[in-house]
Amino acid sequence: MFTRVECSSALPAGDNVLIFEGSQLPFRPGDSVAAALLEAGVSPLRKNPVDESPRAPFCMMGVCFECLVEIDGKQNQQSCLTRAHPGMVVRRQRGARTLA
Ligand code: FES
Repeated sequence: MFTRVECSSALPAGDNVLIFEGSQLPFRPGDSVAAALLEAGVSPLRKNPVDESPRAPFCMMGVCFECLVEIDGKQNQQSCLTRAHPGMVVRRQRGARTLA
């Protein structure tokens, strides 16, 4: 469904790897977390906490909030606005955010 505008070839080898649900997932320098997940075929990223419908990134510009994930233990992070970094730990958002 999603394709890159640029027509580059395979992902470059290197240290640009994040951890998603315990698996290593390569990304390109400058990628957002959402872009890396979509390129890897990860979808949905969460379920609606009310009706459990599957949700995935839609706008890719911080408006729709459909791309929420847990990043390095912090829930409700907009993956489309978060730049991927080597070693970051990403998980699907599970249920509604817990309040401290
Ligand atoms: S994809 Fe819409 S806010 Fe992230």
